[in-house]
Amino acid sequence: MAAYAQIESVTLRFGEKVVLQNCTLEIKERAITCLIGLSGAGKSTILRLLNGLRMPDAGRVTVRGRDLRDLSYRDLIELRQKIGFSFQFAALFDSLTIGDNVAMPLREHTRMSKREIDEIVVQTLDSVGLSGARDRMPSQLSGGMLKRAGFARAIVTNPECVLYDEPTTGLDPIITHVLTDTIKRLRKQLNSTAVVVSHDLGSIYAMADYVAMLFEGAIIAYGTVDELKRSPNPIVQQFLQGSEVGPIPL
Ligand SMILES: Nc1ncnc2c1ncn2[C@@H]1O[C@H](COP(=O)(O)OP(=O)(O)OP(=O)(O)O)[C@@H](O)[C@H]1O
Ligand SMILES: [Mg+2]
Repeated sequence: MAAYAQIESVTLRFGEKVVLQNCTLEIKERAITCLIGLSGAGKSTILRLLNGLRMPDAGRVTVRGRDLRDLSYRDLIELRQKIGFSFQFAALFDSLTIGDNVAMPLREHTRMSKREIDEIVVQTLDSVGLSGARDRMPSQLSGGMLKRAGFARAIVTNPECVLYDEPTTGLDPIITHVLTDTIKRLRKQLNSTAVVVSHDLGSIYAMADYVAMLFEGAIIAYGTVDELKRSPNPIVQQFLQGSEVGPIPL
C-alpha cells in the first residue's frame, strides 16, 4: 500500500520539553492506522502535524509526497479541507446549533444548495446516533453527544483522510460500537485514509489495519494487530495488558 502521509525523523518541542524525538511514521493510504501510547506521549501532537496545525522543529512531514513546510497558506487551507479532524475535545461553536456546526464545512467549502446540505447533515447526524439533536445548542448536550457531533462534523464532507482523536473515549459501549463501525464503513465506502488515536483496545482490535505505538518521543512498534500482540517488546506487552508491572515508569 502506498503512503498517504509520512512523518520523517521529526523532533518537536514545547519550550524545553521535547515531545517528539526523531519520530518516524508512515500512514498508509486507504488504511486505518491506530496510534496508541501513554497519556501525554504526543499522540494529539502527531495528528496536528499531519494536517499542518503544527510544524516540526526538525525533520519533515509529507502528505501525498508534498512537504507541508513548502505549502503556501492557501495550499495548506486546501489540504485541511481534504483532511477531517475529529478533535479530542469536540471544539464546536457554542453559538451555533448542532446542525449548523455540522453543516459549516459544507457551507464554507462546497457550492451545495441549502436542501442538499440539510439532507447530508441529517444523514450524518443519523449515522452517529444524534438524529434528534440537530436544533439543539452545544450547551444542551452531554459530553458524549458533543463528541459525536464533532465526529459528524469531521466526516460530513467525506474527506480523503480523517484524523480521529480519541473518538470513543468516555462513550457507552453501544455508541462506541456504532462509531467504530462508522470509521470502518467510511474507509470502505470512500476508500479514505484514517488515523485514530485511541486507548480503547477493543475498538482498535476491531478496526485497525495497522497499529503504531508512541513511547518517549518515537514510534517503538508498528504492525498489524496480530503483529503487535505478538511483539516481543516488553513495553508493548505491558501497555496492551494494562499491567502496572513492567518497564513503563508509572
Ligand atoms: N500547546 C502546547 N503548549 C505546551 N505544551 C504542550 C502543548 N500541547 C501539548 N503539549 C505537551 O506536549 C505533550 C504531548 O501532548 P499531547 O496532547 O500530544 O499528548 P497525548 O498523547 O495526546 O495525551 P493524551 O492521551 O492525554 O491526550 C504533553 O506533555 C503536553 O503537555
Ligand atoms: Mg491527546
